[in-house]
Amino acid sequence: MYDELNGRVALVTGAATGIGRHTAVAFAQAGARVTIADVNVEKLKETLSMIEDAGGTGLLTRTDVSDPKQVEEMIEKTLEEFGQLNYACNNAGIGGEMKRTADFSVEEWDRLIGINLKGQWLCMKQEILAMLENGGGSIINVASILGTVGFDQAALYTASKHGLVGLTKAAALEYAEENIRINAVCPGFIDTPMLEQAGITSDPETRQAIEGLHAMGRLGSSDEIADAVLWLSSNRSSFVTGHTLLVDGGYTAR
Ligand code: NAI
Repeated sequence: MYDELNGRVALVTGAATGIGRHTAVAFAQAGARVTIADVNVEKLKETLSMIEDAGGTGLLTRTDVSDPKQVEEMIEKTLEEFGQLNYACNNAGIGGEMKRTADFSVEEWDRLIGINLKGQWLCMKQEILAMLENGGGSIINVASILGTVGFDQAALYTASKHGLVGLTKAAALEYAEENIRINAVCPGFIDTPMLEQAGITSDPETRQAIEGLHAMGRLGSSDEIADAVLWLSSNRSSFVTGHTLLVDGGYTAR
């Protein structure tokens, strides 16, 4: 569907499971070579097999996105292996525990913001430098509906995602004339291991309550987010930058 992705180079962080895995495989199916990064190497290997089964080429890197050195190495490896970077999907993130604002510890703040916000900026910083070298590119940050609205007992996560939306807009302004488009995708609740770990999909009552928050009455799938990421990567979205694309089954329309 997006011919121009064929032979190009994409990078997906948090590619071991969920949205990242499906996005990496979708890039490979479109013919792009893909660097897949995550801290979970075991699951990352499964993603690599899925890419290869789809006839694609992947490069696996164990990268903690909150570590500046590891992020630099991730980009270096990509450029060494593939020679350029055209698309980057900054997707790695954690949910954190659910509790009220005053009950979080400083350590929890540092960890969550360190991965979900600082980590995304560290990746963007290196990706932008690489893309400037090859005349442009497209960066897609996976934020959340909680980058646009609040949610009880998730203040740190909500703050990290609002921060990411701000980072996306400011960076988009700065690099627009250098042919780097920078956008955010804001998913509603998506059926991934993150929701399972949070006890949302493992408990039928909780699942039903969360489904009911979406106008469409269901959770989204990782493929529905991957589709948005591929569109934002492709030339079909050539006049779109600094945008926050809600893919939320109507959650925020209420
Ligand atoms: P997931 O838990 O399946 O995937 C997240 C991946 O990020 C995991 O493979 C994990 O190992 C990796 N990761 C965590 N910390 C890392 C670090 N420091 N360095 C590198 N990788 C790291 O979760 P899911 O749902 O696929 O989430 C992907 C992104 O989508 C996250 O940024 C999340 O906040 C966002 N999102 C998810 C929603 C959902 O309902 N599942 C809704 C809105 C946004």
